[in-house]
Amino acid sequence: MRLELSEEQQMIQAMAREFAESAIRPIAAEIDREARFPHETVKRMGELGLMGIAIPEAWGGSGADTVAYVVALEEIARVCASHAVIMSVNNSLYGDPVYKFGTAAQRERFLTPVASGHAQGCFALTEPQAGSDATNQHTVAIRDGDHYLVTGRKLFITSGREASFALVFCQTDRARGHHGISAFIVEKGTPGFGVSKTEDKLGIRASDTAELVFDDCRVPVANRLGEEGQGFRIAMGALDGGRIGIAAQAVGIATGAYEKALEYARERRSFGVPIGQHQMVQWMLADMTTAIEGARLLTLQAATLKDAGKPYTTAAAMAKLFAAETAMKVTTDAVQVHGGYGFIKEYEVERYFRDAKITQIYEGTSQIQKLVIAREVLGS
Ligand code: CAA
Repeated sequence: MRLELSEEQQMIQAMAREFAESAIRPIAAEIDREARFPHETVKRMGELGLMGIAIPEAWGGSGADTVAYVVALEEIARVCASHAVIMSVNNSLYGDPVYKFGTAAQRERFLTPVASGHAQGCFALTEPQAGSDATNQHTVAIRDGDHYLVTGRKLFITSGREASFALVFCQTDRARGHHGISAFIVEKGTPGFGVSKTEDKLGIRASDTAELVFDDCRVPVANRLGEEGQGFRIAMGALDGGRIGIAAQAVGIATGAYEKALEYARERRSFGVPIGQHQMVQWMLADMTTAIEGARLLTLQAATLKDAGKPYTTAAAMAKLFAAETAMKVTTDAVQVHGGYGFIKEYEVERYFRDAKITQIYEGTSQIQKLVIAREVLGS
C-alpha cells in the first residue's frame, strides 16, 4: 500500500483542515450544547465539494477518490463529529449507492443536487426491531400500477429531517425474506411521508437523528434503485463504504482528543513539573498516539482497496472496529489526563468522549464488525 498521499489528496486534506479550523471550531461547542443543526457550515461544505468527494464531476461530485474522502473526513471529525457524520452519510450511504445503482435519469435527479451540496440524502434501513438484525425489515412497498405504496417506520435516521431524499429499504416480497427487500428513493414532501420525531442524544448532538414514517406513501416505480429484491445487497454494499467513513470519523475524534490531552500535559503542573513528565501520563499519551496511527493505517488500507476495485468488506469492518474502540479508549484517557477539568464542558474533551461512543454503535456495532471479520477468517 502506498503511504504517500497524492497532490490532490493533500490539497483536499489541507482545505478540509483549514475549513474545520476557521469555520467549524468556533461553533462546535455551541451547536453541541444547543443540539442545533449547522445549516450554514454544511452549505459551505457543499460549496467546497466535501459532500460528494468521490462522485464524478458529471454528477455534481468532486471526482476525487475514497482516500481523499477519508483524509478530509478525519479533518472535519478532529474538530466536530456532528459535521463529520452529516458529511459521511451524504457521501457514503446515500451518494455512493445512488451513483453505483442509479440509472442516468436517477443520477441526474437524485444524485447531482446531493453530491453538489444543494440538498442532502439520508439512508433509511434501521427499524425498531431491525438494528443489528437488519434483514428483519417490516416496512412494506406494495406495487400499485406504476407506483408502490410504502408503509412503515424507520428509526435513528441520520439527517432524516434535513434530507430532501431518503434511500428507503422495504419488503416488496415478504415471502422471500432478505431477497424480497428493495430500495427506493423517496422525496421529501411526498404525501404519506413524514418525520415523527427528532432524537435528543448523548453525542453528535448537532446532527439530525430522526424517525421517519410512511403511510401508504405513493412512490413511483421510477424511484426504485436497482431491481426488486436487490435492496439488501445495495444496503450492505453501502454500509461497507460507510464503515470506512465512520472509521475516519473515529480517527478524527481520537486525534482531536489526543491533541487536547497533549497540550494539557505540557501546561498543567503537578508535584513541581508539567504532568507530561510523569511516566503514567507519558504512557497514556504513547498508547493514544500508537493506537491512532494503527487506526488511521487500517482506514487508509480499506479506502485504498475500495479505490482499487478490490474486495474491502473485511478491511472496512476491521478499520471501523479498531478505530471505534480506539476513539472510545483515547477519549476516555484524554478526560483522565485532564483530571477534574476533563469532566467539565469548558475543556471540550468531554464532548469528544460523548461523541466517540456512537462510533461503536452505528453502521454496525463493534460486535457486528467482529461477526463480519470472524465469518471471513473462518470462511463461513
Ligand atoms: N455486501 C453485499 N452483500 C452482503 C454483504 C456485503 N458486505 N454482507 C452480507 N451480504 C448479503 C449476503 O451475501 C446474503 O445474501 P445471499 O443470501 O444472497 O447470499 C445477505 O446479505 C444476508 O447476509 P447474511 O446471511 O450474512 O445475514 P445475517 O443476518 O446473518 O447477517 C449482518 C447480516 C452482517 C448481521 C447485517 O445484518 C449487518 O450488517 N447488520 C448491521 C446493520 C447495520 O450496520 N446497520 C447500520 C444502519 S445505518 C446507520 O447506522 C447510519 C447512521 O446512522 C450513520
